[in-house]
Amino acid sequence: MPVTTTSSSVLIELGERSYPIAIGSALLGDARQYDALPAAVAALVVTNSTVAPLYLQRLKSALAGRYARVLEVVLPDGEEYKNWQTLQQIFDALLTSGCDRKTVLFALGGGVVGDMTGFAAASYMRGVPFVQVPTTLLAQVDSSVGGKTGINHPLGKNMIGAFYQPQLVLCDLDVLDTLPPREFSAGLAEVIKYGPIADMAFFDWLEQNIDALMARDRTALAHAVRRSCEIKAWVVGQDERESGLRAILNFGHTFGHAIEAGMGYGAWLHGEGVGAGMVMAAHLSQRLGLVDAAFVQRLTALIERAGLPVRGAVLDAQDNAGRYLELMRVDKKNEAGEIRFVLIDGPGKAVVRPAPDALVRAVIDDCCAAP
Ligand code: NAD
Ligand code: GLY
Repeated sequence: MPVTTTSSSVLIELGERSYPIAIGSALLGDARQYDALPAAVAALVVTNSTVAPLYLQRLKSALAGRYARVLEVVLPDGEEYKNWQTLQQIFDALLTSGCDRKTVLFALGGGVVGDMTGFAAASYMRGVPFVQVPTTLLAQVDSSVGGKTGINHPLGKNMIGAFYQPQLVLCDLDVLDTLPPREFSAGLAEVIKYGPIADMAFFDWLEQNIDALMARDRTALAHAVRRSCEIKAWVVGQDERESGLRAILNFGHTFGHAIEAGMGYGAWLHGEGVGAGMVMAAHLSQRLGLVDAAFVQRLTALIERAGLPVRGAVLDAQDNAGRYLELMRVDKKNEAGEIRFVLIDGPGKAVVRPAPDALVRAVIDDCCAAP
């Protein structure tokens, strides 16, 4: 039966490293989507033990006409495996199969697979082409776009990595049907963040359409993924290597990363940390006089309707705020040992700046106590 492919495309404009993000239905198994990729003898699909049974054969079949050898490596599933040992499995697969420097890597999975595959592509033989085929909402609206790749260190999240852009991002909305509800909500956190930092019209739209999104309505999803990618493309196009503006994409992440690391990777999902982290960052913005209580309430309500936590975790019963501060001191945005927060400077605009410890402590005390 012929497959009908419906799609639209967003371009990441980075000169000779520009690439398209295709968004639509029935894309993953459509061989034509891969026509413009560099020629090579071999492709290696990197995926994990959850995604492989769902989508690996479909992707491999679509690639079979283009590459003489379509190889695979199936990694263990989980944030706790985003480390050197797992990365080594990708290099092992490449080397034991005799893959040359034209080999194209395909990341089939969520942000964990995408970040690790991108880092492997950046470093194997000093760089081979790669393609992102994101299968979580979070990966479609954020992690697969913009070229941040890497792994975690026990002392800090995403601390080892490289900026390395893919050749293509293929967002097939159909694969989101199999995503567990908790993972879907985690993805919505990264969608919601684009409103307060860049586009309040999109925030209004999210308020009106959050129920449709939670029901995974395809039309609503297509708009949310597309608008998120457009905003991310706009930011990355101006500041690929995060010398300034790009840091705004980390709204909610400073507190969120502390929760993720403090609870042990995998206990809280990344998007859950971002959800609670955005509420905490909004409260800090309010304490600094940048937004009013009504805005904080609006944002909190939307995050809650997306099925996300709106209160931070208690990381240390004795000195919870102290533990947060300790963890937040390990952050790539920091300068000269000073924690820099992404704050909302009036709805729709973000600013990156330090804040007095006393205010940060007060926010943590307010936002993390038992409800
Ligand atoms: P994930 O990759 O762990 O995927 C979440 C879970 O969903 C996993 O169990 C996965 O196997 C499963 N899964 C994936 N696709 C599925 C599908 N279609 N159906 C059923 N199950 C499926 O998590 P994530 O939320 O996608 O990504 C989080 C990671 O992304 C974190 O490591 C975070 O640091 C990183 N990240 C990176 C960037 C970036 O710019 N590079 C941005 C945001 C987040
Ligand atoms: N997710 C943050 C960034 O890509 O910069």
